Amino acid sequence: MPLPTDVRDAARSALESLDPTAREIFLARLDEWGPDLLDGLVTLYGAQRGIDTAKHLVEAAAGSYVERDDDLKRLDLSRMIHPNWIQSPDRIGYAAYTERFGGDLRGVVRRIPYLQELGVTYLHLMPLLTPRPGDSDGGYAVADYRTVREDLGTMEDLRVLTRELRAKGMSLVMDLVLNHVAREHEWARRARAGEQKYRDYFLIFPDRTEPDEYEKTLPEIFPDFAPGNFTWDEEAQGWVWTTFNSFQWDVNWANPEVLVEYGDIILNLANQGVEVLRLDAIAFMGKRKGTDCQGQPEVHAITEVLHALVRIACPAVILKAEAIVAPEELMQYLGRGRYTGKVSDLAYHNSLMVQIWSMMATKDVRLTAHALGSLPVAPASSTWICYARCHDDIGWAISDHDAGAVGLSGYWHRVFLSDWYSGLYEGSNARGLVFQYNPVTNDRRISGTAASLIGLEVAAERAKEMKDSVNPIDTVRANQDVDLAIQALFCVNAMIFGWGGVPVIWSGDELGQFNDPHWAEEEGHEADNRWAHRPRLDEDAVALRHDRSTIPGRVFESIAHLAKVRASLPYLEASTRTEIGAVDDPGVLVTVRHHPLGTMVGLYNVTPTHRSWPGWRLGQYGLENAVDALSGHSVRVDSDGTIALAPYQPMWLVRGEDGGAEN
Ligand code: GLC
Repeated sequence: MPLPTDVRDAARSALESLDPTAREIFLARLDEWGPDLLDGLVTLYGAQRGIDTAKHLVEAAAGSYVERDDDLKRLDLSRMIHPNWIQSPDRIGYAAYTERFGGDLRGVVRRIPYLQELGVTYLHLMPLLTPRPGDSDGGYAVADYRTVREDLGTMEDLRVLTRELRAKGMSLVMDLVLNHVAREHEWARRARAGEQKYRDYFLIFPDRTEPDEYEKTLPEIFPDFAPGNFTWDEEAQGWVWTTFNSFQWDVNWANPEVLVEYGDIILNLANQGVEVLRLDAIAFMGKRKGTDCQGQPEVHAITEVLHALVRIACPAVILKAEAIVAPEELMQYLGRGRYTGKVSDLAYHNSLMVQIWSMMATKDVRLTAHALGSLPVAPASSTWICYARCHDDIGWAISDHDAGAVGLSGYWHRVFLSDWYSGLYEGSNARGLVFQYNPVTNDRRISGTAASLIGLEVAAERAKEMKDSVNPIDTVRANQDVDLAIQALFCVNAMIFGWGGVPVIWSGDELGQFNDPHWAEEEGHEADNRWAHRPRLDEDAVALRHDRSTIPGRVFESIAHLAKVRASLPYLEASTRTEIGAVDDPGVLVTVRHHPLGTMVGLYNVTPTHRSWPGWRLGQYGLENAVDALSGHSVRVDSDGTIALAPYQPMWLVRGEDGGAEN
């Protein structure tokens, strides 16, 4: 639908103070993206309200463009010239809580050289806007989107940080919590005070009739500490929709005024220099009776509007969908059908994460090869966030259908994974914690740092105990287990760095940090063991990061190495898709990337034993003179015609002339 002339005129007059070139740049973007903006709004709110809302948003976009700093405007232009900047192999991510990583925002500036050592170019700081006092779900209950949490600094500090990061080629990623606000947010306060305008920002019901109807098909997100999806609020005299905690009030996206408010918040954050907005809990924004209220069509229409808005006002900014959903639903968030290329630019590859842990537990790649091999194709303009684990728990998103296709029971496989990663299963060294046990479904999600989940914590403890054992064999065996766990961790990280999206390391994992044993001691954290894998950066470990005789040193250097090699390989550009190669050995995952410059093959031995891959396959991919870019060595085909892979060894095979990264 073309943009009505009065909407364009409204923009023109808001831009009056600018010189003609600057004005034309905005108007050209409006011509290009305005129709999408309108399309989403009309889908959501009908023609008339859609057009009215478009006018508000376009005016706000023009106003914020007028205010936008020149260096950000320059960044906008350079990103338009190089729209696939986020797909470049030198994009390496790191995610952290500001206070746990650097103390405050200024402390984060001081940590930039540390991030540079790791090769980081994408920094996600967890929620840092003013939250509600007390428990705020790690900042995901925002009380004010316009100020920074007092103990972390000010908006000016945030601007300084983004400027400093930009100067070093790093982008700042921030959360945009848009499914809910804190009960203490001004909108919720005014709703409770009886202002109808603000009551309409939420979903508040006078009695249980409607909530009970919805509850019939709604799952529970935090059954342990926040059962149900509605909370009675005495002051509001109603049942408030609260998908997550009772203090997180879901906003009503069916109300266009809510969209205009969030549009404004986005434009404001963009002008502070934030480059990626993580759309928190995006799946939950559309509510429809008789459904699980996740991934409803409205979600994609809303994202289309927000996407068009940033393209018009501040195209340096991109959107990331936090949709931790079933594999078959994931792709919609990157755009399917009419929304292709029009919604989020990034999404979490939840399936890859789950499959990695599944492979490491079963030492078998067949389920993964099937599940990842049958995912639909993502739009070439989008990118995955690839991660071994994040600040949240791991839920076993393995579909019954995928499991059935390889002769497994989905239910029992999920039970096995929970047993394995909580250390219940015989022979498991994993030390995860059970999060939100649901006795009805037997669903058990898992918390834990990468090192604790892979078994490094248990192995390291044992090695300490066995250090002076009377039987030296015990000492040797215990040390070998540590080596093996470090190698397994390397294999996991090689998978996320070799997949082709943006790999993101969660703070502490770069040093092989274990679960925080003191996680429950902090006020408000007692019931939420996700804090076990959100440790403070361990300064002693930081000091050891280049000492290869230590765990922190070995893990840190291995990740820095992966980052360096990855950045040198054009084959890892994210618009090229990763395909799954034939399974010749059930212990070896094969990934294939057909890049115009040549094919890159990833081999990942997910077992603690020696495995092999048929040498004749090299010819199939034009890799006769292959080099393993990770070790820098030429690939040797043994006399039996196979390529040998040591326990947990990853290989990145590329054409001989491109390999040579020294270890
Ligand atoms: C997202 C966050 C999670 C939070 C939830 C509610 O899923 O990652 O930490 O609990 O949203 O805001």
